[in-house]
Amino acid sequence: MQGSANLNVMIKAARKAGRSLVKDFREVENLQVSRKGAGDFVSRADLASETIIKEELMGARPTYGWTAEESEASEGTDPTRRWIVDPLDGTTNFLHGLPHWAVSIALEHKGQIVAGVVFDPAKDEMFFAEKGQGAWMNESRLRVSGRRKMTDAIFATGLPFSGRADLPETLQELARILPVTSGVRRWGTASLDMTYVAAGRFDGFWERGLNIWDIAAGLLIVREAGGLAEPLRPKADLPGDGEVICANELLFDQFAKIIRNT
Ligand code: IPD
Repeated sequence: MQGSANLNVMIKAARKAGRSLVKDFREVENLQVSRKGAGDFVSRADLASETIIKEELMGARPTYGWTAEESEASEGTDPTRRWIVDPLDGTTNFLHGLPHWAVSIALEHKGQIVAGVVFDPAKDEMFFAEKGQGAWMNESRLRVSGRRKMTDAIFATGLPFSGRADLPETLQELARILPVTSGVRRWGTASLDMTYVAAGRFDGFWERGLNIWDIAAGLLIVREAGGLAEPLRPKADLPGDGEVICANELLFDQFAKIIRNT
């Protein structure tokens, strides 16, 4: 697909950050056996990735606003556009030497996500979409799965960690969905969970307690691949409130009914 100039800037930034992260990831794999662990090192890798992305994006479009995981948000002189960036989604996977993490970059215009890039450098998979132009992974057009039976489908989610208060409701959701599906996965990178729905690898995904930078790009990619995406609680703001439920259009209603318990 012939992308816009903005999309090309985003892809270039994601690739450059990805190269830096891959180098650091090799080091992290070595640090697994050390007693001190890789915590500080990973924080530096995350920051370095954000610095690279910020230089690329703000260098090319200095008037746009900026919202990202590791630095202060800023309003641009163009108040209608902002970059929304997670320089390393799946930080815990990265820290543990698990090769499943991503760089996520979205562009918002007048409150709508108009372009999204999620790059998985470990697998060299570049997922991207622009509003109205379809969704892509490298050279291939993406399409959500065609499964229509819950019993054939697999779903992804995120499980609350570190004593988060939403554990009971998540456990109830799992108790409702596990008996009626082919299974649930917890892979630890929300942006990739969403692109996997877009690619038909997962049939659906739900999670709460996320941040806008975890889901902004994935949201557009799922929708452009023909999937449906809504906030988990119907009146919440998506992506601003950090909760999402998405699936192929054949399963969405059944799936959402079970998860929302309606
Ligand atoms: C995390 C991942 C993970 C999700 C967590 C997020 P981070 O993002 O997206 O899948 O379950 O809630 O915090 O912190 O690695 O950018």
